[in-house]
Formats: sequence, C-alpha cells, structure tokens
Amino acid sequence: MPVITIANTKGGAGKTTAAALLAVELAHCGYKVTVFDSDPQHWFSQWYETARPTGAITLVNHVTPASLECHIREMDRATDFFIIDLAGDRNQLTATALALSNQVLIPVQGSGMDAKGAVKILDLIDQIRTETGYEIPHSVLLSRVNPLVTTHSLLAVKGLLASRGVNVLATPVIERAAYREMFDKGVTLYELDPQKISNLDKAQNNARELAAEIMRMMPVRVISSGSSRRRAFGWGRAA
Ligand SMILES: Nc1ncnc2c1ncn2[C@@H]1O[C@H](COP(=O)(O)OP(=O)(O)OP(=O)(O)O)[C@@H](O)[C@H]1O
Ligand SMILES: [Mg+2]
Repeated sequence: MPVITIANTKGGAGKTTAAALLAVELAHCGYKVTVFDSDPQHWFSQWYETARPTGAITLVNHVTPASLECHIREMDRATDFFIIDLAGDRNQLTATALALSNQVLIPVQGSGMDAKGAVKILDLIDQIRTETGYEIPHSVLLSRVNPLVTTHSLLAVKGLLASRGVNVLATPVIERAAYREMFDKGVTLYELDPQKISNLDKAQNNARELAAEIMRMMPVRVISSGSSRRRAFGWGRAA
C-alpha cells in the first residue's frame, strides 16, 4: 500500500503538521492509516497520545532504517496508507524512507532556509535515482502560506522550485491558528471550538482539500477483479 513520506531537513517546515492533518483526513475517509513517527523527539506521538483521533490510525514510534521496511511489509495488508513523518535530518533513515516511498511530500515555507532544506531532499532523491534507477515521485507542499498576501520570499521559493522542475501541490497549507492550537491543546481540528478559533472552518476545508489532492495523486487500482470497487492506491516502491 502506498507510502507517503514527509521530508525536509529544515526543522519546523511543517512536516508533523502535514502528517497529522493527512492522517486524520484519510482516517475520516475510512482508510486504515499507519503513521511512522521517526523523529526522536516524538512530536507526532505526543500529539497522538492526547488527541486520540477517531478512525483507524496506528502509530509506530520506534523506527530504524532496518525496522522500517519490515514494519511496512508486515503491516501492508492491514494498512491502506503509510505516512512517514521524518525528523529534520539527512541520514540513513531519511534515505531508507525516501527509497520506500510512493510519494514524498516536501513542506516548504516561503523562506530561503526551508527551500535549502527541500533542496537537500531533492538532491537525495536524485542520488537514489542515479544509484538505483528508481524515480521517487515527489512534490513540494507549500506550508504556512499567508492567506492574504503572496510574499516576495514565497515567489523566490516558487521560482527556485520551478527552475528544478519540481511539482508543487495546488493546495498549500495556509497559516492558521487552528493548526497551532491542535498541537498546543493536543486535539484534532474537529475538537477545537469554532467560537474560540478564527477561521476553523477554513482550516478544516484546507485539510480536506489537501488530503483529496494527495489521494488523487495515487494511481487507481482495482482491489478485487470481481468487484467494481476502486480505491486510490499506489505501488511500485523501490524496495
Ligand atoms: N500552517 C500552519 N499554521 C500555523 N502554525 C503552523 C502551521 N504549520 C506548522 N505550524 C506550527 O509551526 C511549528 C512547526 O511545525 P511542525 O512541527 O509541523 O514542523 P516540522 O517540520 O515537523 O518540525 P521538526 O523538523 O522540528 O519536526 C509548530 O508549532 C506548528 O504548530
Ligand atoms: Mg516534526
């Protein structure tokens, strides 16, 4: 089943936020989701332990390069989507996760530092292609985008990505108080109080649109030849 890895070597780029939003939305759609929290600081796990999101989300919070592939193989039948939330490192675990991925999402804020972190991931993807011949599908996810203005630094980042021919998701993650609050309070977007959090409905719509776009990117596969049921699944990982 498809493996979606969220990577940027720059800390604070919005990886864990994207992982949490995506996991909750996919689970709301009825998918079984397994999240690998590979960050030694366990930000995703800390949020998950208090938020206890509804739906079938399984958390694996002890991950090594050797165990990652075993976990994926063992949990493949019981999982519709794997999400790997990487730490802001460029190490063996990063390379292993990328090589196992059907889609790498690279969150980038409109800042030069974030873009440099993204370029390190893009370089690693290029290196894997050179060494193994495997083209890892990947896209940049613009994160913490100002809902009102397009900043000069965001334009510069978009220019840099365009010059490398990188796909940029049409749905950015907008800067919203709700995305901060869900971590501060240890809840999902759906437990926040709309009276207290401005634009909560917009944040929820943004999360749904992001998940819908990512699901559309997955190749469609007929699950059972005897059934017309189609679901969005990717396959063809390198490992
Ligand atoms: N779209 C957003 N709107 C508001 N706050 C955000 C948004 N995205 C991220 N944040 C906040 O920015 C901080 C860093 O985000 P996050 O933890 O998702 O980044 P990260 O890339 O996982 O960082 P790390 O590399 O440390 O794991 C968090 O406090 C988070 O709540
Ligand atoms: Mg994180």
